[in-house]
Amino acid sequence: MKQKIKQILTEVQQVVAKNNEELELFRIQYLSKKGIITELFNDFKNVANEEKREVGQLLNELKNATQQRINDLKESFASQQVDAVKSDLTRTAEPIKLGTRHPLSLTKNRIIDIFARIGFTIAEGPEIEDDWHVFGALNFPPEHPARDMQDTFFIEQNPDVLLRTHTSSVQSHVMTHQKPPIRMLFPGRVYRNEAISYRAHCFFHQVEGLYIDKNVSFADLKQALMYFAKEMFGEHTQIRLRPSYFPFTEPSAEMDISCNICGGKGCPFCKHTGWVEILGCGMVDPNVLENCGIDSKVYTGYAFGMGVERITNLKYQVKDLRMFSENDVRFLQQFQSAE
Ligand code: DAH
Repeated sequence: MKQKIKQILTEVQQVVAKNNEELELFRIQYLSKKGIITELFNDFKNVANEEKREVGQLLNELKNATQQRINDLKESFASQQVDAVKSDLTRTAEPIKLGTRHPLSLTKNRIIDIFARIGFTIAEGPEIEDDWHVFGALNFPPEHPARDMQDTFFIEQNPDVLLRTHTSSVQSHVMTHQKPPIRMLFPGRVYRNEAISYRAHCFFHQVEGLYIDKNVSFADLKQALMYFAKEMFGEHTQIRLRPSYFPFTEPSAEMDISCNICGGKGCPFCKHTGWVEILGCGMVDPNVLENCGIDSKVYTGYAFGMGVERITNLKYQVKDLRMFSENDVRFLQQFQSAE
């Protein structure tokens, strides 16, 4: 009997079970009512009296060891399950990193906020356009050299289909479909056939502004732009308007602001002039109003257009335009704390 108990003990200690079902079979085989160990207990009555003490002890040890083995195996299954959960590839990766707003979006949103406070609403137009909305309606005569000012991407099969070179094209849509008063901003992406470098890209972003009503004057334009410059770059900011030429405005101007990097003293960014150009503007040419079905004897208006990248550069001093479209998180994350 003693021999048998020892043999079973070694057996039990070597038992392996792959899962709970196998473990249950093992328990039934040894510890159930008809199990091997229970049978041994039943045979105990046949053990000679002088051996009862020793055999009883061995039997108890065997029973305990078997129970212990079952417990150990059970525990190992539980921890295996935890491991499996840990390596579940379908679970969401943690921690989820919050993205940051793109610097161009930050700038665009600020421009929109500032003009919203003086009554400007927003509209968007298509990026794929036709000649009329980008050039024709805006008073670019055919063959006019002004068309060369903006190297255009045309679709080869049809030169009437092109990528808009400026968001002024949205003016043509809005003025054709809406009656004055119109006071709107048109933000969006524009395309030009330019070699890509740190200071030029084949696509960039603009915000166009348009105000059409009775008695709108150049003074209104100047006032709105001065308000914008101070809100965007600070109370101390100065502006200056230089005469310029655009086919769709008459008179036309370009606006400079006092360089907000050196405060107007002169630095490499403003090429030591103390001024940086930020937008083009002017009074909407009567031809443009008429082209879009607005009576130029009753209405006047002003328009302006600015580059979002340029304004962003002035605010954050990004040296290379290409960084805006490379999606390098090391660059983008630097704008985490900005609004
Ligand atoms: N569309 C011009 C450009 O892309 C910018 C511009 C200039 C817009 C004068 C205007 C304006 O509305 O009046 O360079």
